Amino acid sequence: MKGIKRILVILGAMAIVIIILSRCMNAADQLPKDIRGEAYTGAATCVKCHKEIGQSFTHNAHSLTSKSIVGQQLLQVFTPGSNVFSYDAHQKVMIEKRAGGIFQVAYVDGKEVRAEKFDMVFGSGEKAYTYAYWKGKKLYELPLSYFSAIQNWAISPGFPKQTFYYDRPIGSRCLECHASYVDKKVTQTSGVSTDEELERGALIYGIDCERCHGPGRQHAVFHLENPEEKTAKFIAIYKTLSRKQKMDACGVCHSGNALVAQKSVFGFQPGDNLDDYYAQDFAGFGGADPDVHGNQTEMLKGSNCYRKSETMTCQSCHNTHENIKGNLKIYSQRCISCHQDSKHSQATLAKGSLSTNCINCHMPKIPSKLITFQQAGKADLSAYLLRSHHIGIYPVNSK
Ligand code: HEC
Ligand code: HEC
Ligand code: HEC
Ligand code: HEC
Ligand code: HEC
Ligand code: HEC
Ligand code: HEC
Repeated sequence: MKGIKRILVILGAMAIVIIILSRCMNAADQLPKDIRGEAYTGAATCVKCHKEIGQSFTHNAHSLTSKSIVGQQLLQVFTPGSNVFSYDAHQKVMIEKRAGGIFQVAYVDGKEVRAEKFDMVFGSGEKAYTYAYWKGKKLYELPLSYFSAIQNWAISPGFPKQTFYYDRPIGSRCLECHASYVDKKVTQTSGVSTDEELERGALIYGIDCERCHGPGRQHAVFHLENPEEKTAKFIAIYKTLSRKQKMDACGVCHSGNALVAQKSVFGFQPGDNLDDYYAQDFAGFGGADPDVHGNQTEMLKGSNCYRKSETMTCQSCHNTHENIKGNLKIYSQRCISCHQDSKHSQATLAKGSLSTNCINCHMPKIPSKLITFQQAGKADLSAYLLRSHHIGIYPVNSK
């Protein structure tokens, strides 16, 4: 009897140990940690279950919109022979590979005066790349940017054209739209002016899954532990959001630069009200006359398509997981889904391609009022063209 009792006790103890061990080894503990906090887990976890989205998303502009540049790996745009920009007969900036990285090197009359390294890139390159270098806990913009329209280097937007400039700080505000997170410390300098320090090692490049969908650790844990469950839990369901909430989820980065952020928008989650993050724009200061750059939300809201339909949102035409950039036929299909029988005059019909390209006529590319760039040896600034999201009837020959 004694022997059996002892065996039962040992078996019982073993069972308890197994239960405790399995508790410790639960799904939550196996998931990677994320610098944004306990509620997050990082894109590597998401794509384990959402494989297809993960694959197509790596080609989307959101995922590519910022990167750290490691060593001598300078993106596809580096072509020897086209790596110099002359300001005038005396001053130039060269792009040079050197030990430890690639640099923008400034020369005056052939003598090197300053060199700073490409540490980080902004932009997927769709229209432009802008570069930055770290100095301590601060990020600064490099004097030259690369513009895809001219396939060449030009002076970074808004920089002086007389000489090279290396001292324009890039604040966390750029990162709020072009990255998923950065740790920052704000210090009071004098009076009301503040200064910020950015933590290079705590920066999540690109716009990742949780930046748009909100923190997803609990969702991932639940579905790991309940693989038979096919209905999403613990994650915002876009379908159930109101139209304003859907517009806000994109508007957090696509409502222009004139808005004043009241608090960091890194914490914005689908379902949140954007008005809680941005102070009301002053009429006339971007609000009444929105620019094509970065302000698709206000442009769209001014169109009849938006005002006279009850359902149109950005998602009527865009799926942010894929890259169909330049495929105007697919976009035109999305117009036709609401406009089966648009009435065009004979003169318009005679221009042709009516069924495959609604876009060039009704959403023409127009120059930004905010962004222009300076090419070498050109007297005038060059235009930066963007699609107008004010869908409407434009003079027909506009392209
Ligand atoms: C263990 C597997 C698993 C992991 C990991 C996972 N998901 Fe999911 N997710 C699911 C399942 C299952 C569904 C429900 C079926 C579906 O919609 O695909 C779902 C649905 C979703 C939905 C759709 C919600 C809706 O509108 O119906 C979103 C958005 C989503 N997941 C985002 C994420 C994000 C972001 C991450 C990473 C933080 C993530 N998922 C990680 C399994 C997972
Ligand atoms: C966290 C900020 C952020 C959010 C949220 C965001 N975007 Fe963007 N989006 C950007 C930035 C930055 C770019 C420029 C990317 C580049 O080319 O470098 C961009 C580019 C785009 C493009 C052009 C590239 C392409 O794929 O054709 C489209 C379209 C777009 N966004 C649509 C949307 C829609 C729709 C939503 C809402 C579901 C959304 N975005 C949410 C920041 C954001
Ligand atoms: C720029 C914002 C943005 C980013 C980044 C983003 N999503 Fe989405 N996602 C959306 C929107 C908007 C929808 C809703 C689409 C709709 O309902 O038309 C969506 C829908 C989904 C869905 C459900 C519908 C479907 O298409 O299956 C899943 C699952 C999902 N996303 C997972 C992910 C994962 C995983 C990542 C990262 C690899 C990711 N998303 C990155 C905006 C984004
Ligand atoms: C309010 C959000 C927002 C802020 C702040 C912002 N951007 Fe952008 N940026 C965008 C959006 C959206 C696009 C793409 C579409 C457009 O131009 O309208 C874009 C486009 C770009 C592009 C071109 C990308 C490409 O592939 O064509 C570069 C480069 C860029 N931004 C750099 C910066 C830098 C540097 C800063 C800070 C000085 C900054 N942005 C601040 C939202 C923002
Ligand atoms: C969600 C449905 C929907 C989608 C998608 C849509 N539209 Fe519209 N559009 C409308 C509605 C509704 C009107 C207003 C019709 C009226 O006034 O009777 C309209 C009006 C227009 C007008 C007349 C504009 C004016 O100022 O009078 C044009 C042109 C137009 N749409 C072109 C397009 C093009 C091009 C696309 C694709 C890029 C598109 N629409 C996508 C719903 C839509
Ligand atoms: C009626 C269809 C439609 C709607 C709705 C729509 N877009 Fe677009 N968008 C387009 C088309 C078409 C293009 C051009 C695509 C191309 O050239 O590859 C475009 C391009 C863009 C670009 C790239 C900028 C450029 O000039 O190339 C951004 C960013 C963008 N859209 C964001 C948004 C956001 C944010 C919303 C919601 C506020 C939105 N779009 C709503 C049709 C639409
Ligand atoms: C060659 C330029 C051109 C193309 C391509 C084009 N449109 Fe138009 N559209 C116009 C002009 C111009 C008008 C004003 C009426 C006219 O003069 O024909 C117009 C008028 C409209 C209207 C308002 C009239 C109405 O039916 O209520 C809608 C909607 C519209 N177009 C949708 C579309 C759609 C959808 C496509 C693509 C399938 C498209 N258009 C292709 C130039 C064009």
